[in-house]
Amino acid sequence: RHPRIPLPVDLYGEHRRNSRGINFAWEQAIATLAEQMEEAGRGSWNFAGAGAESHEDLSSPANLADRTGRVDWCDPEAASTAVGRALAAQPDWDRRGAAERAGILEAIAESLEDNRAELMALCAREAGKTLPDGIAEVREAADFCRYYARQARDHLAGAIELPGPTGESNQLRHHGRGVFVCISPWNFPLAIFTGQVVAALVAGNSVIAKPAEQTPLIALRALELMHRAGVPRDVLIGMPGAGALGAALTQDPRISGVAFTGSTDTARIINRTLAERDGALATLIAETGGQNAMIVDSSALPEQVVRDVISSAFHSAGQRCSALRILCLQSDIADRVLTMLAGAMREVRVGPPGLLGTDVGPVVDSAQLEMLQAHCRRMDDQARLIARAPLPDGLPDGYWFAPSAYEISGIDQLEGEIFGPVLHVVRYRARDIDRIIDQINATGYGLTLGVHSRIDQVQQYVAGRVKVGNAYVNRNMTGAVVGVQPFGGEGLSGTGPKAGGPQYLFRFTTERTRTVNT
Ligand code: SER
Repeated sequence: RHPRIPLPVDLYGEHRRNSRGINFAWEQAIATLAEQMEEAGRGSWNFAGAGAESHEDLSSPANLADRTGRVDWCDPEAASTAVGRALAAQPDWDRRGAAERAGILEAIAESLEDNRAELMALCAREAGKTLPDGIAEVREAADFCRYYARQARDHLAGAIELPGPTGESNQLRHHGRGVFVCISPWNFPLAIFTGQVVAALVAGNSVIAKPAEQTPLIALRALELMHRAGVPRDVLIGMPGAGALGAALTQDPRISGVAFTGSTDTARIINRTLAERDGALATLIAETGGQNAMIVDSSALPEQVVRDVISSAFHSAGQRCSALRILCLQSDIADRVLTMLAGAMREVRVGPPGLLGTDVGPVVDSAQLEMLQAHCRRMDDQARLIARAPLPDGLPDGYWFAPSAYEISGIDQLEGEIFGPVLHVVRYRARDIDRIIDQINATGYGLTLGVHSRIDQVQQYVAGRVKVGNAYVNRNMTGAVVGVQPFGGEGLSGTGPKAGGPQYLFRFTTERTRTVNT
């Protein structure tokens, strides 16, 4: 039973979730927003974390000369004081009840939407997000607030009466677990940051939020809006900092849980840290990587396949954990699809993220750029280049990377997740479909899958056999919608529960039952 989530139609018009093409209302809305962004996004932002020590000037990945702002970083030594403050504040916050906290989440959603132009500008300047991606960030962040508010009212507020013998009352209540540490990634600096934080908050926890080092300003601006909407300062503490700060926070025996989105390797380290420290047994909710494939059989429509491949593999500069990495083409259709794909890739516009015509912005930092360049050098030796999108002349000094597609000999040629706009193509014969499915499952990841086929049995067979959290048939495979496509995977891709899904909040709570002999 999922209530409809109220949506602010002015951001999208009625075609908000129409993935089948841009329409006039959308273009007009974007053009207006672009003007507002220009206005709201001038200047620079300065923020300090709790107990911050050293500061750094930050510049935009789209233009290194553009100073986006200054952040005061927190040292690991500041962790202990912050955990103490959060711990002291939590019981009062928990006592206020889920309904009151849900009201605050709704106020946060409104505030995010009211400040959308500035937040989108920050997404463009600090994270290199294009306009549609910036809109999607604000949209998803607000959706998380409203969805979790509704879930909390329906399932966490008040006591649940349980049956018992005459003369006995049994009640179950949900409470916050204590202090949650939320560690969020740079690829969804607003949406995932907000989703983790508001889920933990509405469940009755206090939160220490450590945003990604690449994108602290967006997160700290969102945090400021959350405080203004009514979250007490000690209930939500922002701590931008390096990995050592994350280690200090997760080692603290007083924390009760960690919500983490990022690499599988870091999730393992956090898991180990939580297991080895003293103190309460803490919960880990981890959303990690993917090695996502799309399987295309010979009944698929090549035009549709190409459009969905471009969007799934290259938009958002491929910097989505859901993005397409391995395109498996049935050999009868492969040449046709690849010819069209190469043509379409020549039309992909890489450029400044704030411009209306840009399809793909920069990658987030020099480390990502170098990793992708090194991968392409290896692919240039070992694989066949299908196409590379053009990089226009005159781009500002930034982390620009040309989306690329290679044909490889087999899935086992890939070593782990390549996080960026590089597509790997393999061909398969119809009779080898099981072998391809086994190879996809053998990667150990289980996040997203795309299937393109007009044959029902093929759709059902493939989507049923590949072990993933989110399977998409005959459409693009990114952009899960809160409350509609609960998002998250299995295996190396995460622990669950799914973000934006009906089970998510419960993992942030502890259950207490009370039995009274009346
Ligand atoms: N939730 C995002 C998507 O569906 C990825 O993190 O694309």
